[in-house]
Amino acid sequence: MRIAPVLLAGALMLAGCGKSEPAADTSGDSASAPAAAAPAPAVEPTAAMGEQIFKRCVSCHTIDKGGSNGIGPNLHGVVGRAVAAHEGFSYSSALKAKGGHWDEAALDKFLESPMKDAPGTRMAFAGVIDAADRKALILYLESQK
Ligand code: HEC
Repeated sequence: MRIAPVLLAGALMLAGCGKSEPAADTSGDSASAPAAAAPAPAVEPTAAMGEQIFKRCVSCHTIDKGGSNGIGPNLHGVVGRAVAAHEGFSYSSALKAKGGHWDEAALDKFLESPMKDAPGTRMAFAGVIDAADRKALILYLESQK
């Protein structure tokens, strides 16, 4: 049987690959409770993550203080601001008619689907589908004031 050495080599390789690294615990404080080994929860959205998502917005929006209006209004301090209230920007009548303030809930709904939330808006943007992405994005908007 000429095949046998090949099989043997394969088996040895598999055995080698199968060896698991016992190196997970490098913290050194081995005296600590086993709870330390609990799996991390799903990643919490952060403003830093939101900054990455905001890249989808920069073709139309600036967010720096005093930044110019582009295709869309400057978004500095938009969280808590009255809807359609940024100086010098010509809003659609749809957004002007919306009323209220951009609190987190209002932003979440608008950013999920601008054209559904404010039919007739000129913000030609499909929306941010992922709820965690929206949360991160709103945290980022909130941090820019
Ligand atoms: C294609 C251009 C475009 C993109 C991309 C875009 N927007 Fe807009 N946005 C607009 C326009 C235009 C308006 C004004 C809409 C109106 O008057 O109906 C607007 C309005 C807004 C408003 C309301 C501001 C106010 O003063 O009431 C918010 C908040 C907003 N955009 C957030 C975002 C965020 C966050 C993103 C990225 C996820 C984004 N936009 C992407 C064009 C865009």
